[in-house]
Amino acid sequence: MSGGNGAHGRPAGTGLAILGSTGSVGVQALDVVRSAGGRFRVVALAARRSAARLAAQARELRPAVVALADPTEAAELARDLPPGCRLEVGNEAVASLAACPGVEVVLNGITGSAGLAPTLHALRAGRRLALANKESLIVGGELVTGQARDGQIVPVDSEHSGLAQCLRAGRAGEVARLVVTASGGPFRGRPAAGLEAVTPREALAHPTWSMGPVISVNSATLMNKGLEVIEAHLLFGIPFDRIDVVVHPQSIVHAMVEFTDGATIAQLSMPDMRLPIGLALGWPARSAEPVGRVDWRGGGRRVPGRPPALPRHRRGGRRGPRRPRAARRAGPRGGPRRRAVVSRPGPYTGRGPFRTRETA
Ligand SMILES: NC(=O)c1ccc[n+]([C@@H]2O[C@H](COP(=O)([O-])OP(=O)(O)OC[C@H]3O[C@@H](n4cnc5c(N)ncnc54)[C@H](OP(=O)(O)O)[C@@H]3O)[C@@H](O)[C@H]2O)c1
Repeated sequence: MSGGNGAHGRPAGTGLAILGSTGSVGVQALDVVRSAGGRFRVVALAARRSAARLAAQARELRPAVVALADPTEAAELARDLPPGCRLEVGNEAVASLAACPGVEVVLNGITGSAGLAPTLHALRAGRRLALANKESLIVGGELVTGQARDGQIVPVDSEHSGLAQCLRAGRAGEVARLVVTASGGPFRGRPAAGLEAVTPREALAHPTWSMGPVISVNSATLMNKGLEVIEAHLLFGIPFDRIDVVVHPQSIVHAMVEFTDGATIAQLSMPDMRLPIGLALGWPARSAEPVGRVDWRGGGRRVPGRPPALPRHRRGGRRGPRRPRAARRAGPRGGPRRRAVVSRPGPYTGRGPFRTRETA
């Protein structure tokens, strides 16, 4: 997945360092790279001690360098690496991958406070930081945000990615409130007394997300949601009393932003981390292919009460200049023939007169 060379002899595709490539976020990031058709190029990979997995990734993706934090498995890893792939060992080596030549975006998918040093390295090196490692924000606080220029940190956490997407709909001074959703985890609805007997296995079985063990347990105790509120405050600069949490067991709505006029913009998508990961890697551009789609038909059934004239309006709309007449004809049979409701292409196609900052 090297991405080949671009028009001027430079390698094509955005150069990535994927830190924590053997974990849940890292493995899904590599899925995104594989399905992105050369948009991304893996330059560097890092893990703590999963040497065999890291070697397999290196043989497939051919990064220039890999790093392993724990030296115990380094000799085994060195034997299994493909020719031309350099091995670095130790925590400092992992952090400094962020500043490697050719790296444009650093995905920090390390778990725990070990992610802080790589976060700081990425920011100081001027790389865009796709940040899954919320612990670096929580632990580092203003030390981290103070080093980041505007837009340098792009959140990967689904709720914060959702907020970042909703915030595209208004100006900074128009934000009234941020809302992040919580599925409630595997123990939602259980009385407190019943929680004494729960097992780690139950805590790891999250009902809607498949994640690494630390965040899964933190989700079961709702500790994760507390961390996410702090993360939202630090990322978006909104005071704590204007950040709310609402329970939404389906994990389809990830976040909402309420604006000063009372309009609330929500971000919805299937619970699949490959969407926020891909968006953070390519920010602000979206993937050309959907990562699952929300099914509005209510489990495959037609929505009751769907207007019967709709297919005829669609046909009429496609006829172009004759649209108004076609739409008039498409009025309810035997009912009043009203003026056309479809008189020009809607704004959503990108071809109409309407433009947003993003589509212009
Ligand atoms: N998983 C999700 O869906 C999700 C969603 C939102 C946010 N997040 C956040 O993303 C981060 C990663 O979560 P995860 O679920 O992907 O965790 P995970 O499955 O446990 O994976 C952690 C990764 O970090 C590596 N690692 C740990 N310590 C390291 C160190 N000192 N140096 C280099 N690599 C190290 C691990 O390597 P080894 O394999 O060698 O141990 C592994 O590759 C966490 O901060 C989590 O809160 C995750």
